[in-house]
Amino acid sequence: MKPFELVLVGFGHVAQRFVTLLEELREPLARDYGVTTRITGIATRRHGRAYGARGLDAVSLAEGVRHGEAVGRAGDGSSSDFIRQIAAKSAAAEESRLVVVETTTLEIGDGQPAIDHVQTSLACGAHVVTANKGPAAFAYRALAAAAVRAERRFLFEGAVMDGIPIFNLVRETLPAVTPIGFRGVVNSTTNYMLTAMEAGQSFGDALAEMQAMGVAEADASLDVDGWDAAAKTAALANVLLGASLTPHTIEREGITPATGLRAVAARKMGRRLKLVARAGREGDRITARVGPEELAEDDLLAGLEGQQNAVVFHTELLGEIAVVQRGAGLTQTAYALVADLVTIGREVTAAERSARRARPPARPGRSRGGCGRR
Ligand SMILES: NC(=O)c1ccc[n+]([C@@H]2O[C@H](COP(=O)([O-])OP(=O)(O)OC[C@H]3O[C@@H](n4cnc5c(N)ncnc54)[C@H](OP(=O)(O)O)[C@@H]3O)[C@@H](O)[C@H]2O)c1
Repeated sequence: MKPFELVLVGFGHVAQRFVTLLEELREPLARDYGVTTRITGIATRRHGRAYGARGLDAVSLAEGVRHGEAVGRAGDGSSSDFIRQIAAKSAAAEESRLVVVETTTLEIGDGQPAIDHVQTSLACGAHVVTANKGPAAFAYRALAAAAVRAERRFLFEGAVMDGIPIFNLVRETLPAVTPIGFRGVVNSTTNYMLTAMEAGQSFGDALAEMQAMGVAEADASLDVDGWDAAAKTAALANVLLGASLTPHTIEREGITPATGLRAVAARKMGRRLKLVARAGREGDRITARVGPEELAEDDLLAGLEGQQNAVVFHTELLGEIAVVQRGAGLTQTAYALVADLVTIGREVTAAERSARRARPPARPGRSRGGCGRR
């Protein structure tokens, strides 16, 4: 059982939990899915880079980063250059066993440099799994096409609703069902804050709690101004409704201390105020919006407490389908990365099996022309 080589681009809260979860799940992943892994590269922005062809002790490096240490020396060039260098050194890319795990910070201006990281990885023969919403929110069509061309996977299940298989639910398990729209509560930080403010906590204290738990984005305005929800809405609409939205083309209103007062007033009237994300078809256009909405108490979204999330899909064939996440957090997001890795593992194993059965003549290695430095 040959291991998958992993390159971690970004080594913050999510990636650190990912490496410990991989350790915790080592046995079932190997036994049940034939997936074993070796982490050969880690790139960060300010905590240096590390490379080890035989595998890095990523759990110890994560412990070090939590104590303010670097993973290695600062490298030359960008993280995309780092991906290219590793892909060039390793046979794993040719063997379809190189996976880049992209967990850098969401850059709400244009989704970069995460989009470059994904493009470079695919061009170099690596699969990509990411929890970053940027690539699917800003460049889904181009990246999906690049993945098809490269015969590699670009998976991002953790980008929306953490460990809940929301993209896979629709894409893999509902054949011939076309979603015509959705509405949901997709940002844990603001739902926690609205629930806490209803109970009398201040805006600042509720936000500080989410930051201390590593759930709020590094830049909290991404959560409270509705950008994170807008990025998720764009990703869902682009992937599931065939839209070409970006977070900037979505009508958006976030939450403020005044929204907390509205939430208290709504509660007194038997209603709940929630930050609702919605998208749907209007003629041949897809429109989307994120903003606080007052909901009747018996609305499924109104019942979401704390960090809970939910999305209700509207479909022609099956009517409404709802997915609810009651427990959200780093483990759930890290799990989504593991689940995407298992998807890749299953496909690679199946392809290797059928290649063995067919015994094709030896072919020269695939040209990865786009992998070189641009
Ligand atoms: N936290 C959650 O619960 C959650 C849930 C779902 C999705 N996500 C998404 O997952 C991603 C990671 O979240 P997180 O909480 O782990 O963030 P985080 O703790 O802020 O970590 C981000 C990591 O990315 C690194 N980084 C930034 N720019 C980079 C670059 N150009 N090249 C290489 N590394 C770079 C940072 O390095 P330095 O530390 O050295 O700057 C850090 O290691 C984000 O996109 C987030 O939106 C997070």
